Amino acid sequence: MIIIKKKHYEIISKIIKEYAGILLERIPQKRVEKKLLEQMNQLNYFNLDSYIDLLKDYKNNSLIIDNFISEITISESYIFRNPKQFEYLIYQYFPWFFKKNNFEFPLKIWSAGCSHGEEPYSIAMIAKDFQQNNPKAKFRINAGDINKNSLKIAKEGVYTSKSLHGKIEFFEDKLGFPIGKYDENGNCIISEDIRNKVDFHWLNLKNVSSLKIMQGSDIIFCRNVLIYFDEVLRNKLLDTFFDCLNPSGILFIGESECFPFPKNKFEVVDNQGSYAYKKPESR
Ligand SMILES: C[S@@+](CC[C@H](N)C(=O)[O-])C[C@H]1O[C@@H](n2cnc3c(N)ncnc32)[C@H](O)[C@@H]1O
Repeated sequence: MIIIKKKHYEIISKIIKEYAGILLERIPQKRVEKKLLEQMNQLNYFNLDSYIDLLKDYKNNSLIIDNFISEITISESYIFRNPKQFEYLIYQYFPWFFKKNNFEFPLKIWSAGCSHGEEPYSIAMIAKDFQQNNPKAKFRINAGDINKNSLKIAKEGVYTSKSLHGKIEFFEDKLGFPIGKYDENGNCIISEDIRNKVDFHWLNLKNVSSLKIMQGSDIIFCRNVLIYFDEVLRNKLLDTFFDCLNPSGILFIGESECFPFPKNKFEVVDNQGSYAYKKPESR
């Protein structure tokens, strides 16, 4: 039986914060301990100090710590999570954006903390839908996550009916085109043209200065990630997202997330009780 002592918990907490900015105290301790023991079992590690050494070695091999983070942050996601946010884009933002620039520029969207890809593929699906009626509309969709394993799964684009909430036909009826086909296990393989719309890249939001490459984004999704960070990192990220957005650009956070935003920056757009955070036109 492995006993997780307070000193172990504190060391792990320090490593996770140092590497990914995540505060372990935001996650129920029981969950952390359960996942820790599961991960150790999977790796056939029965000595906590040796497992901690693996976590510490993230500069040489980050897979162990990435998987642990993915487990404790509940990396589960699903297609069209928080549907009002996608409706806002389809019915309001896309028509407004392309009318304003007369289809001259691509709409640039960034999904930060994309997990297994359900979020950026939802964006790709509504982009494809919009393009069917507006063939001149161009989109650039980037998606990043700290977990290389999740990114691999994302690139493959194969989902169980759980990730689709069992609603593939519903989405296809609404969109009017197939989003994928079923494999022999009943999983849905997202169609190639939708997969090709998304560029996946490794991302660590803790490295705030490296995010400048996303400057010029029109839409940023960073949903159900910021909640794990302390106020200092979260505010730095919100400032950076603000700088990365073009004027009138939009930031979406998870609908159930609640934290203070830096003053005098974003305007709150209320879309039927679902909020979008907008960079004012004049900034
Ligand atoms: C709860 S999932 C959110 C997935 C998706 N955005 C959604 O809302 O459905 C959180 C994701 O954040 C990622 N993550 C955690 N810390 C991160 C960091 N420092 N940099 C980038 N991604 C991170 C995790 O690997 C996980 O995939």
